[in-house]
Amino acid sequence: MLLDELRTPIVSAPMAGGPSTPELAAAVSNAGGLGFLAAGYLSAADTAARIARTRELTAAPFGMNLFVPAAPTPTTDYTRYLEELRRDFPVGEPRYDTDDWAAKLDLLTDAPVPVVSCTFGCPSPAEIARLRAAGSEVWVTVTSVAEARLAVAAGADALIAQGSEAGGHRGSFADRPEDDATDPLGLLALLQLLTAAVEVPIIAAGGIATGAAVAAALTAGASAAQLGTAFLRCPEAGTPALLRDALPLDTPTMLTRAFTGRRARGLRNRFLLDHPDAPAAYPEIHHATGPLRAAARAEANPDAVNLWAGQSHTLTTAQPAGDLVRQLSEEAKTALRSTLSRRFE
Ligand SMILES: Cc1cc2nc3c(=O)[nH]c(=O)nc-3n(C[C@H](O)[C@H](O)[C@H](O)COP(=O)(O)O)c2cc1C
Repeated sequence: MLLDELRTPIVSAPMAGGPSTPELAAAVSNAGGLGFLAAGYLSAADTAARIARTRELTAAPFGMNLFVPAAPTPTTDYTRYLEELRRDFPVGEPRYDTDDWAAKLDLLTDAPVPVVSCTFGCPSPAEIARLRAAGSEVWVTVTSVAEARLAVAAGADALIAQGSEAGGHRGSFADRPEDDATDPLGLLALLQLLTAAVEVPIIAAGGIATGAAVAAALTAGASAAQLGTAFLRCPEAGTPALLRDALPLDTPTMLTRAFTGRRARGLRNRFLLDHPDAPAAYPEIHHATGPLRAAARAEANPDAVNLWAGQSHTLTTAQPAGDLVRQLSEEAKTALRSTLSRRFE
């Protein structure tokens, strides 16, 4: 496993929509962690260009993340929501697409990268076998024990355990509003449940912002920690200015479907509060709200744009990504040593 070869068990999370750049991924990999690129919302051709650019910046391994497509949503599920939005905002056409899934699989089969991670679902056993045969490890994001069992049965090499603290979209295989009645699992509970249920290595994600939390995840059985929000203010990240500026503010985060039709965690703002009952309709709502989000960005209005962030966002710093990896690594070692010496005989 690639995880066993890393100098430090720190993985940067893939963050589509701007933040994940070749520069960020390469800086993390060059510092001894594992950097990630994000293919979400990109064409297969743009995905290939980012891989090529990353290869120019590092000889170390890195990963590529894909969105697993779901079936189209019936129009009737979201018509009323779009009518409501149209009263106040510029709204585009709801559109279904697969995020260029088939072409991206072809690309990664022809020109493999060391790790392919998947979110929003589990690829079929044949698709996983194809990526593995090309030379990649396949990691699948899970949010429950049931999803973990499915992913292992499909042939996943490792699981990314995404706790409910995590910023951005939930990686759940299905996004069902009826599941909202029960609380999503926090990272520590999820890690314990998964280590008891499956044998494959687990990468812990969600709310990790310090070396002490990296140490906690490793102690709870994870093989590595994956951090997203913690890297958002690094100079190498392509984070939109509105999000970069909002991260240090003490604003609570919330789960919402208002912007994309898929449950995601972001900083609380007006739009999110005004649309608590937005339907599950991804990617249709994502495409329809594109113009309103673009207009908000153009006006520098943080109240009508998605500001994805995990629960520990106020701890983010603006230092270079390589320095952050080294700092987290040192802090984790100190935390492990001091816990042992302080708390146990
Ligand atoms: C801005 C942003 C964009 C994200 N985009 C993706 C993505 O494209 N693919 C993915 O698998 N996860 C994505 N995530 C989720 C991360 O992979 C990860 O689960 C999360 O960042 C971990 O929680 P943390 O942000 O508290 O560290 C995104 C998260 C954020 C904050």
